[in-house]
Amino acid sequence: MSDRPRGMRKGLAGYGDAGFSLFLRKAFIKAMGYSDDALDRPIIGITNTFSGFNACHRNVPDMIEAIKRGVMLAGGLPVEFPVISMHEAFTHPTSMYVRNLMAMDVEEMIRAQPMDAVVLIGGCDKTVPALLMGAASADVPAILTVTGPMITGSHKGERLGACTDCRRLWGQHRAGEIDAAEIEEISGKLAPGPGTCMVMGTASTMALVSEAMGMMLPGGATIPAVHADRMRHAEATGARAVAIAAEDLRPRQIMTEASMRNALRVLQAVGGSTNGVVHLAAIAGRLGFDLDLEDLDRLGAETPVLVDLKPSGQHYMEDLFRAGGLVTVLREIVDLIARDCLTVTGRSLGAEIDAQPASWSQDTVRPLSDPIHSGGGIRLLRGNLAPNGAIIKQAAATPALLRHTGRAVVFTSLADMAERLDDPDLDVTADDVLVLQNAGPKGAPGMPEAGYIPIPRKLAAQGVRDMVRLSDARMSGTAFGAIVLHISPEAAAGGPLGLVRDGDRIALDVEAGTLSLLVEEEELRTRRKNWTPPAHVHAERGYAKLYFDEVLQAEDGCDFNFLRAVPRKPEA
Ligand code: FES
Ligand code: MG
Repeated sequence: MSDRPRGMRKGLAGYGDAGFSLFLRKAFIKAMGYSDDALDRPIIGITNTFSGFNACHRNVPDMIEAIKRGVMLAGGLPVEFPVISMHEAFTHPTSMYVRNLMAMDVEEMIRAQPMDAVVLIGGCDKTVPALLMGAASADVPAILTVTGPMITGSHKGERLGACTDCRRLWGQHRAGEIDAAEIEEISGKLAPGPGTCMVMGTASTMALVSEAMGMMLPGGATIPAVHADRMRHAEATGARAVAIAAEDLRPRQIMTEASMRNALRVLQAVGGSTNGVVHLAAIAGRLGFDLDLEDLDRLGAETPVLVDLKPSGQHYMEDLFRAGGLVTVLREIVDLIARDCLTVTGRSLGAEIDAQPASWSQDTVRPLSDPIHSGGGIRLLRGNLAPNGAIIKQAAATPALLRHTGRAVVFTSLADMAERLDDPDLDVTADDVLVLQNAGPKGAPGMPEAGYIPIPRKLAAQGVRDMVRLSDARMSGTAFGAIVLHISPEAAAGGPLGLVRDGDRIALDVEAGTLSLLVEEEELRTRRKNWTPPAHVHAERGYAKLYFDEVLQAEDGCDFNFLRAVPRKPEA
């Protein structure tokens, strides 16, 4: 335990008179009705991420009550404070655009206020990354918990989950198979309560990788939002927060290059969302190292996909909870992970795995000997079209398309795609490669989940289900197809993706890990000379200015340059 000031004494700088500052601080906190006894304890901050716009965080008030109980039972004083909250469906232009703002809020509010440790309450997709990015930079003892997955809904006897089934059923509605009244009825059944999307989307992925990294008490990632265990986990999290304050156990001792590698392993083994790669890269940048994409590729090749969850499998998060949660997965890959990584419990990940009850018979987590995919759920691609990398979720792609050369059909923006994709006169065949430009971190802006380019209507009508599709955008963890994402540098930042024209030949070879634009270098040089950035990638004021001036590319997690532990040097 260090001898730095604790509790109300922490961070006293104002007025140039520490005694007066403490006196004033106490005078105001006493306005809350606290006694001296209550104040003479470790202070545990709790991030209140409730918002009326955030359905995934509906249970946060209940969780805060349970966390407070845990803090007080352990002898601390819990103090909740608000930070930005955001939900995927209600954040314009994208939640990714706002994620860094939340991370800045979290970092500065942890730093500004006198707390000895902080409980982070994450849930919806971007909240866990934002909380961990902020906590990594503030480096005050921190422990994460999440709101937990939603339970499944049902419609006419069929089990439903957000939001893999949202897309599928809307597609049926567009095709005239489900009428307006029924689709309205279904909208009340896809998300039947508090908590996060219950498929292997970004929220589930980030909860699982964060637990694997050691930032959450064991078992926390999969407990359904409405389950009583969710509140018991919250209570235990509050109690543990008091202990990490005393131990001065900090995020940077837990989130290390080794624990990040464990997180990447788990990302691959659970068939996690490609968005997880972007968020882990951002967290790594806060910690002072780069996420090694070659490492991701190598770990992926060695790590089979074991978890049978939608969209690639058939189960939901509550099934993974009943199967034992993350530890059932960890036990299968125990020989592949670094057991000695420290976790927020104060013990190693290996010790925590050993301490959990042994697995039982279940069918959600496959044994290593019988995986869903033998390895390489997510592959790295490089080549003259993606000098700084791109990724493909090969486990979710049509195998025959993993090695394909085709003619480019280019859309220069999301608006252009929306306008022309379904045009019956569009010159496109199933062998072509659909290319979407200007949908990256700056281009859209906010790197929307637009990478899942729909199959042009006239081809879909002919029964075409998958095509090679490329973009600098992201894709929802709930989607699938031969889809190349996160191409870097993005088109709007001058990347070669922006130089592609209709009729160019593009070669994808996932096994070789290459993505090539088969155009003469001379011709590309000419096109580059004539290229100008889209007009909208600048702003004169406000957060938009900060965003456009500072946002980095996908391989740096789309963080702001000045928020990294070591900012990137501007390119010469
Ligand atoms: Fe919040 Fe899916 S919308 S997790
Ligand atoms: Mg999502």
